[in-house]
Amino acid sequence: MNRRDFGRLLALSGAVPFLTPGFEWPAPLDAAPAASGDEAAWAKVRAQFLMPDDLAVLNAANLCPSSAPALEALYNATRDVDRDPSMDNRAKLGEARERTREQLAAFLRVTPEEIVITRNTSESNNLVSTGIDLKAGDEVLLSSDNHPSNHTAWQQKAKRFGFSVVEVPTPNPHPGPEHYIEAFGRAITPRTKVVGITHLTSTVGDLFPAKEICRLARERGVLTLVDGAQSFGLIDVDLADMQPDFYSGSAHKWACGPKENGVLYINRAAQPKIWASIYSAYPGRVGISKTFEGFGQRDEPAMVAFGEALALQTRVGRPAIEQRARELTTRLYDGLARIDGVAIWTSRDPARRAAVLSFQPGTLDARRLAAALYRTDRIACATRGGQDRPGIRFSPHFYNTPAEIDRAVAAVKHYVAAGV
Ligand SMILES: Cc1ncc(COP(=O)(O)O)c(C=O)c1O
Repeated sequence: MNRRDFGRLLALSGAVPFLTPGFEWPAPLDAAPAASGDEAAWAKVRAQFLMPDDLAVLNAANLCPSSAPALEALYNATRDVDRDPSMDNRAKLGEARERTREQLAAFLRVTPEEIVITRNTSESNNLVSTGIDLKAGDEVLLSSDNHPSNHTAWQQKAKRFGFSVVEVPTPNPHPGPEHYIEAFGRAITPRTKVVGITHLTSTVGDLFPAKEICRLARERGVLTLVDGAQSFGLIDVDLADMQPDFYSGSAHKWACGPKENGVLYINRAAQPKIWASIYSAYPGRVGISKTFEGFGQRDEPAMVAFGEALALQTRVGRPAIEQRARELTTRLYDGLARIDGVAIWTSRDPARRAAVLSFQPGTLDARRLAAALYRTDRIACATRGGQDRPGIRFSPHFYNTPAEIDRAVAAVKHYVAAGV
């Protein structure tokens, strides 16, 4: 590339600051890790990401780095369509969008006819709470620990449309799956029309028995929304087995896709029971997407990138990704549990959690601690303010290493003893 080309490239590349002289995309991953402890193979997986080597990103629950194959696809597809915006050239992006739908369907083990590509989990959840006809006398039953997009959204729409919201409390620590199966079984009444839960909570990482709750609801003719923001791309989710009516997720969390893409699964049986909220041009080509996904002009290159992110996860192996993230979380839990003064909010039982772990770091101010962890120790995490189980949230993923976990534990131990 000559200097002029490079200048043009930089001008084009507000969105791609990684394109610096000498930059090369990583070669595609040649082999998946054969065993969970195969660190050399996991290092090759880590090399599929562009974050600096010294940075431990323990914040998958909030925003994941996009994998390099996803970024490369995003860049190439954007560049291609900007260079040749003819309808003939753009037609292939419509086909690519349908390929991503097929990949999403395979990933979630359902059919492309049941997949809507949205902007994020917030949009997916709201398309459900806005799209189902509910009226005075109807009830929506929610677990009490949901993201605002699945909680405030229902409460606000209840005010508007006159239905009521009933909550099943979520005690801490996690009381066990049987507790929730029994509690939802008791709380469903003839008035209940929808049950909404979060598969894995973002607050303290409680894993819900989604399959059992969906079965209970289905047996009583009640629709189910499972918010999968924290399970999509982390847990080896099988929607054919879970059988929710609706499941939502974001590309930019555990799936390591581009920003602002998401998924809404709508079970074939539930499709006649939901209205689209937006009618515009350019819908999808199959199944529910033909009526539900007409959101106007989209960022189709981002959808291509979403497909590449899923392909990387599939190549690494979804059970292997879940196992890796869970093992790192257990290592983290065990390390933090040995620090005097640290109170862990997340369940000690690995079957009741996955890879979201929250804790109170003694009497330290969480925001100051998080800032010190980032600045001094090069560890990215999230903070939880307020009165409800405040503190720090770590969420390791398959690109992290045992050494990074040990570094995080050592740093927390240091600050809890010495102050920030
Ligand atoms: C459980 C849960 N639901 C929904 C969301 C919203 O995700 P997004 O901001 O990608 O729409 C989040 C974000 O953290 C979440 O944790």
